[in-house]
Amino acid sequence: MRELIADIRQGDCRDVLKEFEGEFFDLIVTSPPYADRRVKTYGGIHPDKYVDWFLPRSEEFLRVLKPGGTFILNIKEKAENGERHTYVIELILALRKQGWLWTEEFIWHKKNCYPGKWPNRFRDAWERCLQFNKSRHFKMFQEKVRVPMGEWANTRLKSLGKNDVVRFNSQAGSGFGKNIANWLDRDLAYPTNVLHFATECSNKNHSAAFPIALPEWFIKLFTQENDWVLDPFVGSGTTCEAAQKLGRNSVGIDIMEEYKDLSYKNTKKSELLLMEKGLKYEANNSK
Ligand SMILES: C[S@@+](CC[C@H](N)C(=O)[O-])C[C@H]1O[C@@H](n2cnc3c(N)ncnc32)[C@H](O)[C@@H]1O
Repeated sequence: MRELIADIRQGDCRDVLKEFEGEFFDLIVTSPPYADRRVKTYGGIHPDKYVDWFLPRSEEFLRVLKPGGTFILNIKEKAENGERHTYVIELILALRKQGWLWTEEFIWHKKNCYPGKWPNRFRDAWERCLQFNKSRHFKMFQEKVRVPMGEWANTRLKSLGKNDVVRFNSQAGSGFGKNIANWLDRDLAYPTNVLHFATECSNKNHSAAFPIALPEWFIKLFTQENDWVLDPFVGSGTTCEAAQKLGRNSVGIDIMEEYKDLSYKNTKKSELLLMEKGLKYEANNSK
């Protein structure tokens, strides 16, 4: 029987991670406090101090991530005094100086957002999922997140022009080229870097939980079965639940006892389900 671990720990991730050896994790996927947005529930950091607060923690992330691993940071800056704060942009620049490569930016489009009215802007319906790596050569399993070809194939592939059946280089001189005919007779295509997931905060007992589909997507793309996934700001345990569903080991850390217990409860709950799949499951809960 294969053993799967969800190790939930309480504490500041900066300190707790010191208990782990270097190059241990294959993937870090996390959503930290968005500066001081939830100051009343789990505290916060003033946006002007955010970079200084984050860097000692990301130093630990850098240490515990394997050379071919990936770090996904879900975050979004708020608007204040009529403009967007720049702390996320400053954080990206600081992380690059710390030694991370800023490989990609995915957009999480919250597809179930309801309309609203603000005097000088529209509904905020997306968040950043920033991808950082230690090296250009990281593990990536693109075929695991392929999507149905979609409607465009029915129209675009119906009548191919002469430029569609050979590799056609961009006329804008970008160096990119495409051969549209390559997609004929295919059922699946690669997705874009825009991810359309509905929010699902109700009944999670945490005000800032992300939908399980979000960590699931990155876990499928960047890890294999039995790999190790870390969420250093685990909240209600969504990342560990996703890891568990996909047969990956996980470590979740939260500074608040209430959320450490909630994560433990949420990961423990699917134990029976995993046992039915022939997986011996162990959830650890520690201070
Ligand atoms: C945005 S929430 C994460 C929500 C999570 N993605 C989920 O789906 O439930 C951020 C979490 O980070 C925790 N936190 C704040 N500072 C922390 C720290 N220094 N170390 C570990 N956890 C921290 C908070 O208690 C909060 O639960």
